[in-house]
Amino acid sequence: KQRVLTGITTTGTPHLGNYVGAIRPAIEASRDTSNETFYFLADLHALIKCQDPAAVHQSGMEIAATWLALGLDTDNSVFYRQSDIREITELTWILNCVCAKGLMNRAHAYKAAVDANVAEGEDADKAVTMGLFSYPVLMAADILMFNANVVPVGKDQIQHVEMARDIAGRFNHIYCKKEPLLTLPDYQVDDNVAVLQGLDGRKMSKSYGNTIPLFLPEKQLKKHINKIKTNLLEPGEPKDPDTSTVFQVWQAFATAEQTAEMRQAFAEGIGWGDAKKKLFELVNAELAEARERYNDLLNRPADIEAELQKGAEKARAISKPLIEQIREAVGIYGLA
Ligand code: TYM
Repeated sequence: KQRVLTGITTTGTPHLGNYVGAIRPAIEASRDTSNETFYFLADLHALIKCQDPAAVHQSGMEIAATWLALGLDTDNSVFYRQSDIREITELTWILNCVCAKGLMNRAHAYKAAVDANVAEGEDADKAVTMGLFSYPVLMAADILMFNANVVPVGKDQIQHVEMARDIAGRFNHIYCKKEPLLTLPDYQVDDNVAVLQGLDGRKMSKSYGNTIPLFLPEKQLKKHINKIKTNLLEPGEPKDPDTSTVFQVWQAFATAEQTAEMRQAFAEGIGWGDAKKKLFELVNAELAEARERYNDLLNRPADIEAELQKGAEKARAISKPLIEQIREAVGIYGLA
């Protein structure tokens, strides 16, 4: 069995892009019993970006509710909160002590922060915390703690998975003369999964402010879809589906047959108003039931917590024995 693991940082509200690009395929994979799937809320990573305790907590609950409402199979997968697995933070320190600083100097997130500071004429390390600098070590611990083979991620996270691989190799080389304790992970980027466009036609992303949040109330969802940028062609004039965000979002939610029909409607000059109305109906039909479950779940935080505790228990059944072996390998243990 492949062990598939991935995490999502608990900041902000999930949008249609997150859903199509990451959450929907992960939930499908959770139903495939030929894999073991591990999904977690990266709340320790959230502390790097957000120092508002209420917001960190609330975002964790919302993202957990999102996955559960969308039908994550928590019997067949392990769904947990990173911070509940104390062994991960312990492993992070141990890995810090084998990870070269030079490797972290090359990490994109850290470099981007430094470049932005320099561009603004500020001190290069302004507002750079040790958390940001060593973010990939914590991520390596997330992956290596469970001996994951496959890590599905978006392109922006490939470098971090490669770093986890490097760090695992280094650890095994130093401490595991006979059998390697840590599994070298591979990233998996699914090119068939759409990178959804946002309201302005660029990649949908919180940093561009062009998102459509996943569980907007129906009226708001309609309003947002009506805001998708289009050209000035009138009803009756043929339109090009391949340069249209309306069509791209349609395709992400439609069956092959529905997509062919919409392509035909574009050729026949469907008006933008009509196309958006149909798009709203399609997206709403896929999300309406989950939205109700989501709102209901958020009113029952104890039930969300119970799911996360169930996941933490399953996760720790794996992380506890492995951390014991790792402690022994590095020489930190007491006499039994
Ligand atoms: P995060 O929370 O930024 O993003 C979660 C996942 O979604 C992918 N993603 C996208 N994919 C397609 N289209 C988009 N518009 C889009 N936006 C985001 C991201 O690549 C990511 O796969 N550091 C990680 C979380 C993490 C993690 C881990 C992941 C912590 N530990 C261990 C894997 C394994 C992060 O911040 O992802």
